[in-house]
Amino acid sequence: MKLNTLAVNLEFDENERKLFADGKEVPFSTRKVGEMKDVIFNKEFINIKNRNDVLYRMYRAAGVDKNATVFSAHNIRYDVTVIENYDLGGEFTKTLGHYHPLVEKGLAYPELYEVISGEVVYLLQKRNEDGSFDLQLVHAKAGDKVIMPPNYGHFSINVGSDVLIEANLVNSTFDSDYKAVQKMGGGALFLLKNGNMVLNRNYAEISLKHSEAEKIPFLDYSKSIYDEYISHPEHFIFLNKPEFLLWKHDSWDIETQEF
Ligand SMILES: [Fe+2]
Repeated sequence: MKLNTLAVNLEFDENERKLFADGKEVPFSTRKVGEMKDVIFNKEFINIKNRNDVLYRMYRAAGVDKNATVFSAHNIRYDVTVIENYDLGGEFTKTLGHYHPLVEKGLAYPELYEVISGEVVYLLQKRNEDGSFDLQLVHAKAGDKVIMPPNYGHFSINVGSDVLIEANLVNSTFDSDYKAVQKMGGGALFLLKNGNMVLNRNYAEISLKHSEAEKIPFLDYSKSIYDEYISHPEHFIFLNKPEFLLWKHDSWDIETQEF
């Protein structure tokens, strides 16, 4: 299938699970069942037979060569992730989950996601100073865009009936922190395929908000995030400077300046 970008031709071959940018294969890395041992609900699930099953594929810097100047000028990367619809021991297939490092003023790098195909629940979790956690479950479908706010660890959970294809724009200079999630035995809750939601006992007090993806007012929904970034990089300054991302009147806004 052809993805939603115009400034580069991204084609995903569903049979081979390969992504091509203008006909050239994009390298990818995989996450396998065995790598999820610390973070899944049903820890007994993993065995010799299934531990090499691929749960998702990460195509980093997909199609970025085509518009290398504008991406490298601001240290921004565009990635595509394809998450299988796999039964992870009764749990929906999900990403390992991670936090981003701090940039400045106690704020970590945010990230912007876009759902290209399928259905996802983003689990966002932030640790407060008193040890409690703020949790948000954001349900999103093809065409939706969702911000991972500064300081929120995040997980993509494929709750659809097919593969989930999502893309993201993020600063390209940092390494994500996966250990904080592994130490806690996974995210703050587990979404099971039978419809149950199980809280992870390693997390103390939590407050939970459940919502549908909302329109982000400063983004152009007639364009993919790739294309909007190419034509208006100044809309994405918040990816490098989180203090430019503002939560006002129940929606996101940004301060812009030359980028
Ligand atoms: Fe991230």
